[in-house]
Amino acid sequence: MRPTRLYINIDHVATLREARKTDEPDPVVAARACQESGADGITAHLREDRRHIQDHDVERLMQAARVFNLELATSPEVVQLACRLRPYQATLVPERREEITTEGGLDLRHPNPRLEDTIHRLDQAGIRISLFIDPDIRALEAAKELGVPAVELHTGRYAHSWRRTDAALEELRHAAAYAASLGLFVHAGHGLTYANVAPVAAIPQIEELNIGHSVVSRAVMVGIRQAVLEMREAMGESWEPFLIRS
Ligand code: PXP
Repeated sequence: MRPTRLYINIDHVATLREARKTDEPDPVVAARACQESGADGITAHLREDRRHIQDHDVERLMQAARVFNLELATSPEVVQLACRLRPYQATLVPERREEITTEGGLDLRHPNPRLEDTIHRLDQAGIRISLFIDPDIRALEAAKELGVPAVELHTGRYAHSWRRTDAALEELRHAAAYAASLGLFVHAGHGLTYANVAPVAAIPQIEELNIGHSVVSRAVMVGIRQAVLEMREAMGESWEPFLIRS
């Protein structure tokens, strides 16, 4: 069996850049580094409010990413951009302006002409479509009805409760098996960390994981020593520890 694909979500590299509206850190440089160290592909979410990833990032990631998974909601101009650039995969997510991050899966309980139209347009553009949904049997059946090839199971509930109970993991296992029995490809993501990822990666039907925040956070911690050393070097002086004398 092939190992689970790992796609790194580099949104928060852009979050840091946007905090200063400058040109560093560059999510495209980060994307290349991710792919050099074990990432099978890159994920980025082009939000309607453009709070992190910008249109020009998506254009450049189309060139830099071996496999590019664009997350988007049904906002018309973002869908139009996706249809023009044609990433390998589009993952449709719900989006609310006031949320800190994607908070739940798509609500597929009621007919949603806008979602159906978006799926149709992305499909016509030849883009593989995945729907981000909660690990819920009815949501899986609705996704199947919508004719998409893949779903991404929201692992948030598991990520928040994995220390206390196995119930959320069982829910994911069950949903993944059911999705596969419907003929859907199964992806998963949200809130996965170095501590909680292994049991999810071990679910046999899950072929792809999308992980962002934990990896970018870890990158800061493992990289900051080197970054300070390089700043010291750039100052061009030898270093003596600064001691405050009383
Ligand atoms: N999958 C989807 C659909 C998401 O919206 C996000 C967050 O942007 C992720 C995966 C990655 O979540 P995290 O940053 O918590 O790893």
